[in-house]
Amino acid sequence: MSGFLEDAYGARTQEAVNAHYDRWAESYDAEVAENGYATPRRCAEALARHLPDRAAPILDYGCGTGLSGAAFRAAGFTAIDGADVSEGMLAQARVRGAHRTLHHVSPEAPFEGIDVRSYAAVACVGVIGAGAAPFTLFDDVLAAMGSGALFVLSLNDHSLADPEARARLDSLAPSPHTLLEAEDGEHLPGIGLRSRVVVIRRG
Ligand SMILES: C[S@@+](CC[C@H](N)C(=O)[O-])C[C@H]1O[C@@H](n2cnc3c(N)ncnc32)[C@H](O)[C@@H]1O
Repeated sequence: MSGFLEDAYGARTQEAVNAHYDRWAESYDAEVAENGYATPRRCAEALARHLPDRAAPILDYGCGTGLSGAAFRAAGFTAIDGADVSEGMLAQARVRGAHRTLHHVSPEAPFEGIDVRSYAAVACVGVIGAGAAPFTLFDDVLAAMGSGALFVLSLNDHSLADPEARARLDSLAPSPHTLLEAEDGEHLPGIGLRSRVVVIRRG
């Protein structure tokens, strides 16, 4: 293994996360493909099990270079908008063309210019936890979504080891939200990393 992946999961500030992904943008697709990146397909298939309307609008939050958008397309979804904090990653997503619209967002105003309530589903594929967005993004997304909308997200082994992740998942049981599924499976088999794909219906 070489490149940026081995340095992807360290603790760092959001500023350092942005710089890391800006530098990684050009080689990201090749490096994660080499390691069998499975989570985008797993998230798209999980969402498809609960959202039969393939024309329903999806917000792919933390869309990166567009691999998650391409996976939602491959599952049949046709109206996918993307958002990310890294201009470098967004530039690659523009070239890929899997998204209808792409938004550059800032962690301080995560949904500025985005009508989150208009989406049938919000996705955070490989976005929340170790080395990327803070766990508070989980709370922010759920708060911003419309009632009845779906939230599909993945948490890799590093993120799941953090009590902050477990607290969020445990808090769902007594909340107005419904945990529709949580399935463990391959994330990056090339480096032996797994992830949990979770689908939540917002109350
Ligand atoms: C591992 S990549 C996943 C990208 C894409 N979803 C995929 O599956 O390939 C993590 C992405 O999260 C973005 N990110 C990190 N912190 C973020 C934040 N606070 N808000 C939105 N996106 C963020 C990074 O810029 C990066 O593009």
